[in-house]
Amino acid sequence: MKQTVLSGIRATGRLHLGNYLGAVKGMLALQEDSTIDTFFMVADVHTITTPYDIDELKLNRREVIIDYLAAGLDPERSTLFLQSMVGEHLELSFLFSSVMSIARMQHLPTFKDKVKQYPDHATMALLNYPLLMASDILLYKANLVPVGIDQEPHIEIARQVARKMNEAYGTDFPEPTRFATKGEYVPSLQGSGKMSKSVAGSFISLTDSEAEILERLKAAPTDDGKGNLQTMPQGVKNILQFVELFSGAEKRAEYEAQYEGAGIRYGDLKKELAASIAAELKPLQAKRAELMVNPKYIDDVIATGATKAQAVASRTLDEVKEKMGLG
Ligand code: TYM
Repeated sequence: MKQTVLSGIRATGRLHLGNYLGAVKGMLALQEDSTIDTFFMVADVHTITTPYDIDELKLNRREVIIDYLAAGLDPERSTLFLQSMVGEHLELSFLFSSVMSIARMQHLPTFKDKVKQYPDHATMALLNYPLLMASDILLYKANLVPVGIDQEPHIEIARQVARKMNEAYGTDFPEPTRFATKGEYVPSLQGSGKMSKSVAGSFISLTDSEAEILERLKAAPTDDGKGNLQTMPQGVKNILQFVELFSGAEKRAEYEAQYEGAGIRYGDLKKELAASIAAELKPLQAKRAELMVNPKYIDDVIATGATKAQAVASRTLDEVKEKMGLG
């Protein structure tokens, strides 16, 4: 069966290491396989489901396209587009809302978390968030979705929508699965929870310099450097996870041995880690600088991507409308 991939990132700010390791690295791996059709979008419509600034949204959605390109996503091999430019996403999500119950949507942990975070913004858009995401995926009949583990409940909704639509209307939606990377859960720098754009102090941006990375790492909690691996505080475990992700498993094992022996000198560890992270980000930052001086190229990528995406999306939407008696 032909494999099709779709993924997206909201336009809420500069990308961080969590987005890069959990999502973009998976996108890059899948783009490598020329037998797979890859669609990568900026989920700018999803961005309006929580409070946002209009001017920042305008800027950020373009920035995500630039980050995609800087990381190595290639418009010759992948369709890169802005979700809002392909109206079919919104139309299909409304059709999908006819097969899902309110109760199912209200029970999603991701919905509950967002309501807790923004108690004054428990909107219909937020409740419908996962249906819009199901629409993003199923419009392209994607069967693989490279995203971090936090998105699993949303992928489950997409599978459920696919099943319900296929049963009720005889559509042929695949049941999509998550494509996981080694960095499917990148922890926060603050010792608990995940790295997140909305939590200042939790993240390292893809555009940070080595000095900025070191500053951010310095603020990460540690202990006195010695002890038993079993009782190691979460914050230290997280730092060692970063060591593993950027300097390899052997380096992590070295530090673990130090922890149980002479002790870790966190000042040195953090300097070394900052250098490894900066080395990985350097080519991305160089490419970003090149892209920034060529706005016309970015405009072209965005315009071409929308046309390519829409050609596929409109076919699927027509099929669905036909089967639902709306053709
Ligand atoms: P968003 O914008 O919150 O995050 C974008 C991607 O980054 C991943 N991610 C992480 N991965 C590992 N560790 C972390 N700390 C971390 N933080 C973020 C997310 O899992 C995600 O892959 N709902 C999506 C956007 C979306 C989408 C889609 C994704 C809209 N439509 C269709 C796939 C397919 C979201 O909010 O991502």
